[in-house]
Amino acid sequence: MLKDLPLADDKQYILAIKKRIVALKKEKKAIIVAHNYERPEIQDIADILGDSLELSRAVTKVAAKVVVFCGVHFMAETASILNPHKKILIPVKEAGCPMADMIDLKGLLKLKKASPGVPVVCYVNSSAEVKAESDVCCTSSNALDIVASLPDKKIIFVPDRNLGSYIQTKLPEKDILLWEGFCPTHMRIAEEEIITCKKQHPKAKFMAHPECPQRLLKHADYIGSTSGMLKYSKSTKAKEIIVGTERGMIHRLKRENPGKKFYSPSEHFICADMKLTTLGWLLHSLENMVYEVKVSEKIRKKSVEALNKMLKCMPASNKKTKETKREKR
Ligand code: 13P
Ligand code: SF4
Repeated sequence: MLKDLPLADDKQYILAIKKRIVALKKEKKAIIVAHNYERPEIQDIADILGDSLELSRAVTKVAAKVVVFCGVHFMAETASILNPHKKILIPVKEAGCPMADMIDLKGLLKLKKASPGVPVVCYVNSSAEVKAESDVCCTSSNALDIVASLPDKKIIFVPDRNLGSYIQTKLPEKDILLWEGFCPTHMRIAEEEIITCKKQHPKAKFMAHPECPQRLLKHADYIGSTSGMLKYSKSTKAKEIIVGTERGMIHRLKRENPGKKFYSPSEHFICADMKLTTLGWLLHSLENMVYEVKVSEKIRKKSVEALNKMLKCMPASNKKTKETKREKR
């Protein structure tokens, strides 16, 4: 129990929490997975770290029957849809995604009615109900390939208008109908912040997540998902990189690239929901086996089709990232 832990000093307390988490994980035969935006201490204790696509795949492959998902709700829900016989726990049940909440079933049905027969590509940052009404899902690392793989010219893309607009610029032959959703974390960054940061670090490359609006993307040397950014950071000759996404990403980038420098262009590049999970809540989750994320079997059966179509279109063996690389220097 948390109340039994030593309170002598923070360091001792944190060490004790970590020890309990590791012991409980073994006892409950659980694994901990965490998204790249999570707090550094959560990333460090996780068994698997990754972007949305990597984590969805990883949970399907692990033998463990209990998975503690340190991320936001739609991620744990996706894991649960794909793995109905596993117990998927989220340490903080309030950890949601404001972008996923910007579209609901009613809105999507209305859009589908207005454009009959047009296939719906749904960003994984969405609810199970919305996925259930979509033809195929995508994540930021495969969105371009998924949209390109559809034979149709006209496509409905929900809910991220920034990711959808980015795909439209890359696939001009498509006619993409956008939903007006966005990620507040990427949206709140001003173009001026990028320009200033580039001036401060003139040798640095700028990599950006496709959830960024066009005013930021137009300055990018590389555009890709969080795992794409990791690969780019390792492969580029640049020794300094400006990170155009949530600041949590910098922890992993620094750890895996000790010889390179990473800068955040803004102190506001923070997703509050991703930061809700702390070591304390992780311990609470393992101790009490909470909070289980489950969807009704009716919704699960429908939503798993859109997810499986995505996974089939991008088999793990063939998951060569085709994200945009634009080396300017
Ligand atoms: P990826 O890790 O898939 O790039 O997604 C970023 C994100 O916003 C998750 O909420
Ligand atoms: Fe949602 Fe944006 Fe936070 Fe990702 S970073 S969980 S898209 S609000």
